[in-house]
Amino acid sequence: MIGVFDSGYGGLSILKEFKKQLPNYDYLYLGDNARAPYGDRSHETIKKFTKQGVNYLFKQGCSLVIIACNTASSQVLRELQQELLIEKGEKNKKILGVIRPLAEETIKLTKNKNIGVVGTTSTINAKSYPTEINKLNKEIKVVGRACPLLVPLIEQGWHKKPEAKMILKKYIRPLKDYNIDTLILGCTHYPFMIKEFKKYMGKKVTVVNPGEIVAKKLKEYLKNHPEIDKKLTKTGKTKFTTTDSIEKFKTIGSNFLETKITNIQQVNLE
Ligand code: DGL
Repeated sequence: MIGVFDSGYGGLSILKEFKKQLPNYDYLYLGDNARAPYGDRSHETIKKFTKQGVNYLFKQGCSLVIIACNTASSQVLRELQQELLIEKGEKNKKILGVIRPLAEETIKLTKNKNIGVVGTTSTINAKSYPTEINKLNKEIKVVGRACPLLVPLIEQGWHKKPEAKMILKKYIRPLKDYNIDTLILGCTHYPFMIKEFKKYMGKKVTVVNPGEIVAKKLKEYLKNHPEIDKKLTKTGKTKFTTTDSIEKFKTIGSNFLETKITNIQQVNLE
């Protein structure tokens, strides 16, 4: 099974692409809805919560866990790989995040070497996108912009309202001064406003949809790592777990996944 971890519903935008591009695999999704959003939380808290989530997915039999959340990937992926895998000499399990695959693909898209990133406050403060991009190409300039109000607006289903569009416009206006030609939507929720991002950034800016790229990179990764691929079950089933109400997950989660979700279980990570 492939475990997909997120702070809440947003990771469903990544899972949706996994199911499209890798339909035969089995998935276990965990949304830590009771403690979401992570975007404004401290490093220590994000680490504690994400570690509990990843350990839960390992215990359920996932040999590969994808941290679909940009905030958690930015803040704690490397530490968790170190503590849960390297230090324990664990060779049969893997933890992957979303920053590196997005960095690798985005550097192929920019022509003028100016990339923008939008995300939660925590993701932008962690500077994980500039760090990963500059490891691959030092000449690229990366400018970040936190858009903290977008997650709650999207969760409430307000993203098509004029107020949300106005806030988005205000957030991204300063990015226009940096002559960027590529924009990474560095948050699981922002693809739900991709049309607006495209419209306000204009035709000259390529807006990167994370789900499609992360799924494409996962496909490549599994091809290049047959020893991991062979451990993953492939019956095309998906199970959902949440730390909050099942009813709420059914309603909001189904909107995010654009498919009716039924088999949901409530779990306690504490
Ligand atoms: N999943 C988070 C991310 O991609 C957004 C929601 C949150 O702040 O927890 O950054």
